Amino acid sequence: MTDKAHAELLEDVLSRYQDSTNPRLREITEAAIRHLHAFAEEVNLQRDEWFAGIQFLTATGQKCDDTRQEFILLSDTLGLSTLVEMLTHDGAEGSTENTVLGPFYVPGSPRRAKGESMLVDPDDGDRVVIRGRVTDRDGAPIAGATLDCWQNATAGFYAVQQPGFQSAANLRGVYETDPHGSYEIRTVRPVPYPIPSDGPAGDLLKAHGRGWMRPGHTHMWVRADGYKELITHVFDEQSDYLREDAVFGVRDSLVRRFAPDGDGELATTFDIVLDASPPSPAPLRPAPTR
Ligand SMILES: [Fe+2]
Repeated sequence: MTDKAHAELLEDVLSRYQDSTNPRLREITEAAIRHLHAFAEEVNLQRDEWFAGIQFLTATGQKCDDTRQEFILLSDTLGLSTLVEMLTHDGAEGSTENTVLGPFYVPGSPRRAKGESMLVDPDDGDRVVIRGRVTDRDGAPIAGATLDCWQNATAGFYAVQQPGFQSAANLRGVYETDPHGSYEIRTVRPVPYPIPSDGPAGDLLKAHGRGWMRPGHTHMWVRADGYKELITHVFDEQSDYLREDAVFGVRDSLVRRFAPDGDGELATTFDIVLDASPPSPAPLRPAPTR
């Protein structure tokens, strides 16, 4: 195939979308076609290879069910989810960085008082405190902001992964800032955990010798009237896998060290700065587990 023949084919394909009445859909579709053609040309994609690719994508779809979303996992492990988060959030200078939502968020966590522990079940892990202030970009406190938090137990799993074994409310809670914008969360130290690797996304990681661990972190979804929602993590500075996060979610600005505070508790400070720009569109809410 000559370059001219490919150029003519691509032009012909793109011309079929000229009458599309949805400009954004047309923009996305045409760009996808251009990049797919360039990709195939770059690697000189052969018929049997593309069929293997089609089989891989078919298996990825077949792995999905009500509680598992293999395409999100694939997107996460290719770094695409993180890129889309960056493009979607686009936080203003000085606001706290966001990161991926992940698959284990469940709405409806119990409201918890300032300083309450969100640990419900027995757990051998270190007890820790995460505290800080929620402010705007000028440093003014935001009272009544909610911090919807979730993390895994020391055994490595989120409550939603172990129904009937962990209590549904274990290591989940919604905290609210006080009139000074302060919050305080008691929990256990988050530990590294594996993302599900028993499907096509995991097969691809293994084929390339990649790992499937995430460093220890606590998730937060912060909301306040008049501010952009913030979906982020607090990472433990002393955790393994900070440089090899399987889903590329680590931001240096989100890494904190737990150290004994004045009361002898293992604690860290995580101040949060919200952006008062117009609210961002609702993020995709995947199935609770996969
Ligand atoms: Fe997580």
